[in-house]
Amino acid sequence: MAIIGCGSATPSAILSNHHLSQVVDTSDEWIYPRTGMKNRHVSSTNETLSQLAADAAQKAIADANLDPTNIDLIILATSTPDDLFGSASKVQHLIGATQAAAFDLTVACSGFVFGLITAAQYIRTGVYKNVVVIGADLLSRWVDWTDRTTCVLFGDGAGAVVCQGTETKDNLLAFEMRNDGSQHGCLNLGYQGESKPLAEGITVQVGGYKPLTMSGKEVYRFAVAKVPEAIEKAMFRAGLAIDDLDWLLLHQANQRIMDAVAKRLKLPSEKILSRISEYGNTSAASIPLTLDTEIRAGKVKPGDKIAVSGFGAGLAWSSAIFVWG
Ligand code: ACO
Repeated sequence: MAIIGCGSATPSAILSNHHLSQVVDTSDEWIYPRTGMKNRHVSSTNETLSQLAADAAQKAIADANLDPTNIDLIILATSTPDDLFGSASKVQHLIGATQAAAFDLTVACSGFVFGLITAAQYIRTGVYKNVVVIGADLLSRWVDWTDRTTCVLFGDGAGAVVCQGTETKDNLLAFEMRNDGSQHGCLNLGYQGESKPLAEGITVQVGGYKPLTMSGKEVYRFAVAKVPEAIEKAMFRAGLAIDDLDWLLLHQANQRIMDAVAKRLKLPSEKILSRISEYGNTSAASIPLTLDTEIRAGKVKPGDKIAVSGFGAGLAWSSAIFVWG
C-alpha cells in the first residue's frame, strides 16, 4: 500500500496563552516552556466534529486525485464524536463517499496510528483498494475550563490520509501496537451515573460523561519510557537504522516529550516534526494535522521515511514507519 493523499482542517477561532490567562490562573511564561504551546484552535457551536473530519477527508481525497466515490472504507479515529453511536457514517454522507463502508475507532491519542495500521490490513488482504483514515477530535468540548492543569493543553482539529493498495510497493514498512489497561485511570473522560430506582427491584443509572482528567506526570513518564521502545521495535522490523529516518512525528502532547524521545533514539532534534505551538494537543488529529501542515510547508517530501507514534489514554501506544507519497 501507499499513502497518497493528505488533508487537514481546523476551526477558525484561535485561543492563545494570553487568552487562557484571562480564563484561569496561568500565563504564557508557565505554558510555553513546559509544553511548547502558544495557540490552539477551538470550535464554536456551529463547527461539528463530523464537518471538520469531512473537510480534512475531502482535501486528502482531492490531494490523492481521487473522487469520493472511489473510496471503499472510511476509518474515523476519534474520542469525541458528535454522536456516541459514531460519526463516521455522517462523514461518509458529507463527503459523498457513497460506496464506502465507515466506522469510528476509539483509541484516544493513539487512534490515528491504530487506524492507519487497520487500514493496511484491509488493503493487504485485497478487500479494499482506497481507504481514508481520519484523526479528528474536539477536546475543547470536554475539558474543564476551570482546571488549569488540563484546559491549557488541548485544541481541536482534524487530519486525514488516503491509503491505496498497490501491486508494486508497500510503504507501511512496520508497526507496533501496545496497551496497558492497568493504567487506565491515568487519563479519563469517563461516564458517571447515579442510581435511579425504576421499578420494583430494578435500579438503572442516569448520568453523563464528565470532563477530562489526567495525571500529567504519570503520562509524561509513561510516554518517555514506552514511545522510544515502540519506535525501536518497528524500526527493527523494517530493517532500518535510526539514521535512515527523515522525520520523527510523535503525537503532539508536549514538546518536552518529543525532545526526550528524540534524545533517547539519538535522533537530531532537526528531524522532529512539531506544530504544537500552533495547534496544542489535538489528540487523534495531531499526527495527520502536523503531517499535512509540513507537507504544505514543503518540509515533508515524497519518498521521505517517517516514524510516527501515538500514545495516550488507555493507556495505549503505537508506532508505524512509512514512506510518504
Ligand atoms: N498554569 C500555571 N500553573 C500551573 C498550571 C498552569 N496551566 N498547571 C499546573 N500548574 C501548577 C501546579 O498547580 C503546580 O503548582 P504547585 O507546585 O504549587 O502544586 C505546578 O504548576 C507544577 O505542576 P505539575 O503538574 O507538576 O507540572 P509539570 O511540570 O508536571 O507539567 C504537564 C505539567 C505539562 C501537564 C506535564 O506533566 C505533561 O506534559 N505531562 C504529559 C501530559 C500528556 O502527555 N498529556 C496528553 C497525553 S494523552 C492525550 O493527549 C489525551
